[in-house]
Amino acid sequence: MSKIAIIGAGQVGSTLAFLVLEKELGDVVLVDCVEGLAEGKALDIMQAGALAGLENGVAGYDDYSRLKNSDIVVVTAGQARKPGMSRLDLLRKNSEIVSSVVKEIARFAPEAVILVVTNPLDVMTYLAYKMSGFEPNRVLGQAGVLDSARLKYFLARECGVAPREISTMILGGHGDSMVPIISQTTVSGKPLIEVLSEEAIEMVVEKTRSGGAEIVSFLKTGSAYYAPATATLTMLDAIVKDSNALLPASACLSGEYGLEDIYVGVPVRLGKGGVKEIVEIDLTDKEREALHKSASIYRESLRVCEKIR
Ligand code: LAC
Repeated sequence: MSKIAIIGAGQVGSTLAFLVLEKELGDVVLVDCVEGLAEGKALDIMQAGALAGLENGVAGYDDYSRLKNSDIVVVTAGQARKPGMSRLDLLRKNSEIVSSVVKEIARFAPEAVILVVTNPLDVMTYLAYKMSGFEPNRVLGQAGVLDSARLKYFLARECGVAPREISTMILGGHGDSMVPIISQTTVSGKPLIEVLSEEAIEMVVEKTRSGGAEIVSFLKTGSAYYAPATATLTMLDAIVKDSNALLPASACLSGEYGLEDIYVGVPVRLGKGGVKEIVEIDLTDKEREALHKSASIYRESLRVCEKIR
């Protein structure tokens, strides 16, 4: 039985704890520094589980020593966006939070895989890598699965098909510079470029780019959580079951795609121990250029992050 720790009992963390229980992926330890928050959420989730006859445990604590023996630690702690904010606006506050949380992970769960969900995602994942001192394959970030799900949803709506008919992937950073791989996108097995006009594709891509901000503008007090939590569950499932699933994730590059010492979304094989392989798929020149541009934006944020620290 895997032990999955989730740090941050806010909307994403607690929804994820519930999904892990429902999927019977492992026992969950939910940790939040706000006294009582994780404990209360865990009790609520366990009582829902009792109705459904689910047997795994979810326990909540405000004490990081409970991370001990975790196989995977998911970091959701941090502030969420408010209307008008970009993910990079969260840089200062969330750098402090992620730094302190990662110190506790390194202390109590030195063998774990760290899966980062806190924004700005790619920068926080790099920070977790540096602060933990873990090997790069054991530190990764969730974003591409979420962004790809959004693209899938909007494309399915535009094409009038079920989302499962769409095969697509978004690479690059989790922000305005994300890189949809249109050249490899298919609708019911047909290349997307034969199904939709260039203008229609551009419209759907723009909707996807601002997919998170659109939800923030509706909610006003926070950001999306059902889709981010479900995307994280998809990655946890691959790691726990050692499935080698090919998924986009923020991973440490050391030469792949011509990029070095940076975290940005790329296709990876996920299994026990985290990233098993970074897969280099064929990209058009334009897509490759966009991936490099996205990486350069995050490199700039890393410099800002270094200054804050
Ligand atoms: C989003 C935020 C959580 O994309 O990054 O919804």
